[in-house]
Amino acid sequence: MAKILIIDDEKALRQAMAQILKDEGHDVIEAGDGEQGLKMIQQDATSRPDLVFLDLKMPKTQGNAVLKALGSKTLFELPVIVMTAYGTSRTAIEAMQLGAYDYLTKPFDLEDLVNLAQKALAHSQASAEQIGEANIQNLGQPEELLGRSPKMAEVFKLIGRLAQGNTTVLIVGESGTGKELVASTLHNASPRSRGPLVKVNCAALPEHLLEAELFGHEKGAFTGANHLRIGRFEQANGGTIFLDEVGELSQIIQGKLLRVLQDKSFERLGSNQTKTVDVRILAATNRNLEQLVRLNQFREDLYYRFNVVRIELPPLRDRPEDLEQLTQHFLSSIALRNGIKNLAITSTALEKLRDYAWPGNVRELQNTLERAAVFSGGRTILSEHLIFNQKYQMNLNLEQAIAQLEINFIRHALALYPQEPHKALGISVENFEQKKKQWNL
Ligand SMILES: Nc1ncnc2c1ncn2[C@@H]1O[C@H](COP(=O)(O)OP(=O)(O)OP(=O)(O)O)[C@@H](O)[C@H]1O
Ligand SMILES: [Mg+2]
Repeated sequence: MAKILIIDDEKALRQAMAQILKDEGHDVIEAGDGEQGLKMIQQDATSRPDLVFLDLKMPKTQGNAVLKALGSKTLFELPVIVMTAYGTSRTAIEAMQLGAYDYLTKPFDLEDLVNLAQKALAHSQASAEQIGEANIQNLGQPEELLGRSPKMAEVFKLIGRLAQGNTTVLIVGESGTGKELVASTLHNASPRSRGPLVKVNCAALPEHLLEAELFGHEKGAFTGANHLRIGRFEQANGGTIFLDEVGELSQIIQGKLLRVLQDKSFERLGSNQTKTVDVRILAATNRNLEQLVRLNQFREDLYYRFNVVRIELPPLRDRPEDLEQLTQHFLSSIALRNGIKNLAITSTALEKLRDYAWPGNVRELQNTLERAAVFSGGRTILSEHLIFNQKYQMNLNLEQAIAQLEINFIRHALALYPQEPHKALGISVENFEQKKKQWNL
């Protein structure tokens, strides 16, 4: 049972709404215009409402003016559901931007009204069991490598030990485990951090362009080479070069790199003058290089040059201890970027994160939380806001995968369009109800 305020200039509608909400056991107060409504919201804590229904189109003080007057800070604590007979996307979008929780298009079913009220109230209660204030002060370095698990502790130690020397390091791990971040961390921890960190994605360019990119070329070295170009190795002089995705290198470039790894020397394309540089080489791949060597797709001699010291990044599913810290970290940075004071997540939602296998690892966690923050409208993240990326799950057969997709898609529609999910899905209400029953939603 909660205290609900209805702000609407239409008396008959107000009364009908009040009646049905009272029947549900709520305490209802009413205001006939925006100004009066604002006063009721700004009362002392004991008489303040827990939820507001706000009409957008009113003669005195329009709905959006009320939202503006409340400011986003108050709105985070107080859900406001706006109502409009003018069901244009513009007013709705504007209201949502101003911080409204949701909106109802007039005329609406009284049943929708009750459901939405319940949902909004459940949401503010859920905010109360959030996992603690996100610590924004801690965000000095947004690109900090985090982890509390023993496995990550090993990685930190190894980075610490490797920071001083010039050893070539091969960083391996599944996609999204933080290989690039480890490379930056290692560079920043080393004396070479005074010099540049140059990153090259070896998979991003076709062979001939990659060659020019790495080693540079003289003016006129080939058609289209109109200027002299300094390659990435030269640019990295005095610092570190990070060769990402080395598993994708062609045989020819592999051969050229072998020489650079041996004696740090090379020639620009179209030149016979040998250049020698002072660079530390870090390489990364999510491919199994040993297997590529066995298949003759990767030169064994080059493999040994790269694999002097190896940092293995464990998949996220093998270090559940890190999940909560990473979640907190991403939520704080999302909050900070969006000017939200605190973005929380319920313990049920956190459980759901723990139960998932994270085939896309930390990057997938980050993306999932970004999406969830959009679905929750910047409010406490509930488990229904967490929609996982299906594309990696190969442990299902086709029928199961399609069923899973359907379930997630329906959940998605429910979260985004709580009032008319069937419309978003393009199916009839009957069909929608049938599916809800079938999938137990
Ligand atoms: N331990 C960590 N602490 C904080 N952030 C992390 C951590 N690991 C990864 N991230 C973040 O996750 C994202 C993915 O990391 P990164 O790009 O380093 O992964 P990757 O292993 O290079 O992935 P890919 O193989 O797909 O290139 C980045 O935004 C990175 O900042
Ligand atoms: Mg990477």
